[in-house]
Amino acid sequence: MAMWKGLIESYQSFLPVTEKTPRLSLREGNTPLIPLEKLSDRWGVELYVKYEGANPTGSFKDRGMVIAVAKAKEEGSETIICASTGNTSASAAAYGTRAGLRTVIVIPEGKIALGKLAQATILGADIYAIRGNFDQALEMVRSISQTERMTLVNSVNPYRLEGQKTAAFEVCDQLGEAPDVLAIPVGNAGNISAYWKGFKEYHEVKGTGLPQMRGFEAEGAAAIVRNQVIPNPETIATAIRIGNPASWHLAVDAAESSQGKIDEVTDQEILEAYRLLAQTEGVFAEPASCASIAGVKKQLASGEIKKGAKVVAVLTGNGLKDPTTAIDAVAVEPTVIDCNEAALIEQLRKQSGV
Ligand code: F0G
Repeated sequence: MAMWKGLIESYQSFLPVTEKTPRLSLREGNTPLIPLEKLSDRWGVELYVKYEGANPTGSFKDRGMVIAVAKAKEEGSETIICASTGNTSASAAAYGTRAGLRTVIVIPEGKIALGKLAQATILGADIYAIRGNFDQALEMVRSISQTERMTLVNSVNPYRLEGQKTAAFEVCDQLGEAPDVLAIPVGNAGNISAYWKGFKEYHEVKGTGLPQMRGFEAEGAAAIVRNQVIPNPETIATAIRIGNPASWHLAVDAAESSQGKIDEVTDQEILEAYRLLAQTEGVFAEPASCASIAGVKKQLASGEIKKGAKVVAVLTGNGLKDPTTAIDAVAVEPTVIDCNEAALIEQLRKQSGV
């Protein structure tokens, strides 16, 4: 099997890269499309997940970051800066380090999942935690990048969406065509916009078809659904705790032009999908990711997604990103026993009711 060389090498003809663009890579992309057989049977659809937690830093952000950082390096930048709910900062820190750039990240204090904070820390970023939320952090770094010699690598940097659109290419290659429905969590709304761009570009060249784009915000942060900015967004899915999405209009366009919809799911629905996915299919994704599965369940019940449809739900981040939510989500704790075989056998027989 040929070695996978990462996104810049693999998708050059679709990307804004030139001979001068550094061949930066942590071998991102090429993530699995996993069929969910049990849930497909149960729900009467053909359901797959695009498992973006298999990227090098554990989220889809690596697809966009590799291009944004390579272009920053090409343009002679020495420092990158971003606001983040966690995953962007982990990815920026990894690619910034790899490219030899200083990485500055601004995060909302106390609202970052533990795994993401650990990544940014060990990867050597300069971390600032503000007493505020993501939207305020983004406003600050956008403004600062205008006056300081720092390249902004949030998804308002167009290279981010260029990289992220490659996930749509992979979905089409893995399925042989675009699915009927693409279900995806929505936070700052960059990823849904990137997928839509990717599906359209691939269709133009390869005739792979176009899916309905169905995006899901968390109920406490559902600015697009409500059609109003939410000044104090709240959700257990901290990755998408965003009240003023930067790519708002692109996301609305993706949903409208594809006969899809931007919808919302409650924290309870997200947590239910999170457990269901882990305990039925053996797939562990972070809570925000599971908004896509919660959304599929909701729209199957409402009839908006039809029985028999071919559905791809994007799982944007690895479950290990947020160990705290995993431990809190299940009441069961390990049974502590004496260190001998007899004690273990006794417990095993008790559990299986023998
Ligand atoms: N899922 C995860 C795991 C995320 O980290 C994010 C965004 C999203 C979904 C939403 O994607 O913003 O393109 O609509 N995380 C950003 C961050 C905001 O800072 O890591 P989006």
